[in-house]
Order: sequence, then structure tokens, then C-alpha cells
Amino acid sequence: MSEVHQGRRRLLAALTVGGGLVAVGGGPALVTNARGLSGYEGAIIATWRHSDSTDLPLSSARRELVRYATLAANSHNTQPWQFRLSDRSVLVLSDPGRRLPAVDPDEHHVFASLGCAAENMVQAARAFGLRAAPSYDPAARGIRVDLEAAPPERTDLFDAIPYRQSTRALYDGRSVPPEHLRLLETAGNGDGVRMLLFTERQQREDILSYLVAGNSAQMDDVAFVEELESWIRFSYGEALSTRDGLFSKSSGSPVLPGWIGRLVFSQVFTRDAENRKYESQLRSSAGVAVFVSDKNEPAYWAEAGRSCQRFALQATALQLRHAFINQPVEVPAVRGQFATYLGIGGRRPDLVMRFGYGPELPKSLRRPVEHVILGA
Ligand SMILES: Cc1cc2nc3c(=O)[nH]c(=O)nc-3n(C[C@H](O)[C@H](O)[C@H](O)COP(=O)(O)O)c2cc1C
Repeated sequence: MSEVHQGRRRLLAALTVGGGLVAVGGGPALVTNARGLSGYEGAIIATWRHSDSTDLPLSSARRELVRYATLAANSHNTQPWQFRLSDRSVLVLSDPGRRLPAVDPDEHHVFASLGCAAENMVQAARAFGLRAAPSYDPAARGIRVDLEAAPPERTDLFDAIPYRQSTRALYDGRSVPPEHLRLLETAGNGDGVRMLLFTERQQREDILSYLVAGNSAQMDDVAFVEELESWIRFSYGEALSTRDGLFSKSSGSPVLPGWIGRLVFSQVFTRDAENRKYESQLRSSAGVAVFVSDKNEPAYWAEAGRSCQRFALQATALQLRHAFINQPVEVPAVRGQFATYLGIGGRRPDLVMRFGYGPELPKSLRRPVEHVILGA
């Protein structure tokens, strides 16, 4: 049975808990859903697009670079960033109101997310006739992206930006040709960041054991589950009003009125069900990439983010899907064991991604650029 069908069966079972079926599909609910769907689709088209022109004056180009930055991967889609614009640079800063203290107590993922955003700026800048040079600014605790004029160049990675998505679905198990693995390797290795690629069946099984250990620990952690639930957007209305968070539809789950979604969440979202889902998802993947930076510091966490965003764009350009499976690096006790398995000495494994060939899922939304530019 497919994973989506299993999910729907669990959902139906949950809806009948307590003796009676909760009414989900009444007339008014269907009308609201249809209206929500068209609003959501319109917002997606407006969000995930290339600029009409790349021949723009610097002030407009800078704003477009920020828009491309916001299309980057980021933890729980909190969009934990703010951008301070000055004449020839953009400072990418964290937004303290969008932290995830349970899953990310040391803000590793915040800085990785800022790195993902900076990498999109680097890739986009070239198309706008600019060279973007990011460097970590310890005083600002952010990434300073300096801009200078350069010959315009449109690359495959730039073209891929509006098509990239985290695809939390079953893939088809096909392996990736060696020449494409080499391109992924080139993209994923970075300044102070090494990417380890695992494509053997036994390696996937080994990594699965750390994934299940990390996931089990997280599912038993009330603070983790509550934090995750608070960022899930169950309905079109919730997704459209916040334009952030994890839209259930983007993970292949049904769209429900928020109150029903929250009611059934605890029934459907169980440790065993999630572990089974990850088992089948990882076994359906062509491989796993692990990003390991040289030092356990914010500047390097950001570089790891840059590397994984580049990897994701290269994968997208090759028609490959990808999804983060960070459980092995998010639970400190499991992370130590995982580091030993990887043989990386005292270094910290930063991020884990699976990849392979699979379907496209509905995309997640982003807040408008004006909301993330300081002083706009
Ligand atoms: C640092 C970081 C950690 C992430 N961890 C996970 C994860 O463990 N599991 C997961 O499914 N997605 C993870 N994601 C993916 C985000 O949830 C995703 O990027 C976000 O929801 C936006 O969706 P999009 O990538 O499709 O644009 C992570 C992303 C980043 C940058």
C-alpha cells in the first residue's frame, strides 16, 4: 500500500476515534476548500517564479536577490531571516522571533538556513550581472553578502531556484548515473565543508538505524512534538494567512480545517507510523548526502547550509528530488554515534539529505519580501 494511502487510512481511523465520524466534507467545507485551493495556487505562482527581467538597476536587483534568497530551504519553513540592505551589500540576519528552541537549541539550523538563503543570492546575482561574495560577520552574527558588477551569466543552478522543493515522498528507487553523482559532489563540497555521499544499499540501511533512533527520541520528546505541531499549517486558510510553516499538503497529507487537523494530529503522528514512513522513504531513495563542516561554529554552520542548498539546486537541475532527514544530527546522543559511524573524528555532522527520482509535491509558501527587509 502506498504511503499516502496508509496516511489516509490512519487519518480515517483517527477521525472515527471516540465512536463517531467527525464530519469533514460538508457543503460549506468543500466551498471553503475550493476557494482556499485557488487562493493557494495563485500565491504559489506569484511566489515561485523567475524575475520578469534580470536587466535592472542595482536597487531593484538587490530587492530581487532578497526575493530569491527567501525561496531557499529553511528549518520548519519558519523563514528565520531578515535582510538589511546597503548600497553594495546585503546583511542576512536571523529573526530572533522565529527560533526553534526544541529542535534547534544552539541555533545551528538558523545559521544553516541563513547559509541556504545566501547561496540563492550568490546563484541569482550572476544572472543580474553581479558577483555576490558572502562572508560571516561575527559582530552582526549574520552573513554579509558584498555585491560587485560582473558579466551576466545564467546558470543551471540559478534556473533551478523556483523549481527546488523539499520532496517528502516515496522515490522510485532508481540509481543516479555516475556523471550526475560527480556533479552533485562538485556542488555539495564547499569552503570548509565536506559532503559524504552514500549510495550503497547497506549504507542506506546503516543510516536508517540512526534516522530511526533520532526520530524515536524526538517523537518521545513532548517539547519537540508541540513545537512541530505549532508550525504545521493544516488548512489553506492557515497556510495563506501566515505564508510560513509546514503546509500539510506539501508533505503529502490531506488539507483539513485547522481544528480537525489538530484533533487528529496526535492520533496519526505516532512514533511507529513515522518510523515506518522514514524506512520506506529512505529505502526508496537513490542515496544520502551528509554535510560535515570543519568547525562547530555559526560561520561553518552557514557554510554547510550554502553547500546543501547548492546540492539541492544541482539535484533539481538534474530532475532529482531531495528531502532532509536530519534526525541523526538533531539529537545530540545520536549525533555522536552517527559521527563515529561516519569516521569524521571530532567534527559535527551538520545536515543529512536523501535524494532520488520522485513525484513533485505541492510547494510551500513564503512571506512577502517587504516583510523580511529591515526598514522597508
Ligand atoms: C537547516 C534545515 C533543516 C531542515 N530539517 C528538516 C528535517 O529534518 N526534515 C524535513 O522534512 N525537512 C527539513 N528541512 C526542510 C524544510 O522543512 C523546508 O526547507 C521548508 O519547509 C521549506 O520548504 P521547501 O524546501 O520545499 O521550500 C530543513 C531545512 C533546513 C534548511
